[in-house]
Amino acid sequence: MAQLFLPRVIGHRGAAAHAPENTLAGFACAARLGVRWIELDVQLTSDGVPVVFHDDRLERTTDGRGVLVETSLADLRRLDAGGWFADRFAGERVPTLAEALSLLVAQGQGLCLEVKADEARGGETARAALDGLRRHWPADGPPLVLSSFAKSALEALAEDGCAWPRGWLVERLPDDWRDEVRRLGCGSLHVDQASLDAAAVGTVKAQGVVLLAYTVNDRSRAEQLWGWGTDALFSDCPEQLLGPSDH
Ligand code: G3P
Ligand code: MG
Repeated sequence: MAQLFLPRVIGHRGAAAHAPENTLAGFACAARLGVRWIELDVQLTSDGVPVVFHDDRLERTTDGRGVLVETSLADLRRLDAGGWFADRFAGERVPTLAEALSLLVAQGQGLCLEVKADEARGGETARAALDGLRRHWPADGPPLVLSSFAKSALEALAEDGCAWPRGWLVERLPDDWRDEVRRLGCGSLHVDQASLDAAAVGTVKAQGVVLLAYTVNDRSRAEQLWGWGTDALFSDCPEQLLGPSDH
């Protein structure tokens, strides 16, 4: 598996404090802010197309109603995914994964691609995401890592010969994290920052595992996590955590 060289800050869902999350406008905004990597969430529409979307339901981040995985791509594309955030983003659409990947490659941005699925859908969603990457992410493209809370997704990526690095997402370190990280073929752990303390960070780093923490919007908390050895942080306002050496 390729080695992972991370920046200290990754824009969460683009730059979610500044532009509607998981939209092309958000990824462009992150690039303008000097953010070198972004994170996005991938799910499947009812007709099996990978799209960039976080929630189970449509209501919070679009003007539609219903469940994302029960919505066709055609119906999803009619929705406004930007007006809820600010009027100037009205008309923004839910991007397909292919559209998002093309923009990120053009912008030269690194990517943390989160396969957002429950265990039942994890394998199918991960395979669709991997197919999208193989089609739209050039061999000499920016660096990337795939991640998921769903073990089924990580198992599918390993079975399908994914050559990109993978990370396991958890809310807190489970007792068996060492064995599971190895079994799932992951080089990194992506952990809720609220569950991390110096001892937990030290335990992970002592095993040589790359550690990312989500979601950090406070500069002093960021300094603390970095000071303990955390490799990278996901942030909605990444530019507020960046220093001159990060650009
Ligand atoms: O990938 C890190 C983070 O995005 C995981 O949580 O709910 O924001 O997708 P969530
Ligand atoms: Mg996410």
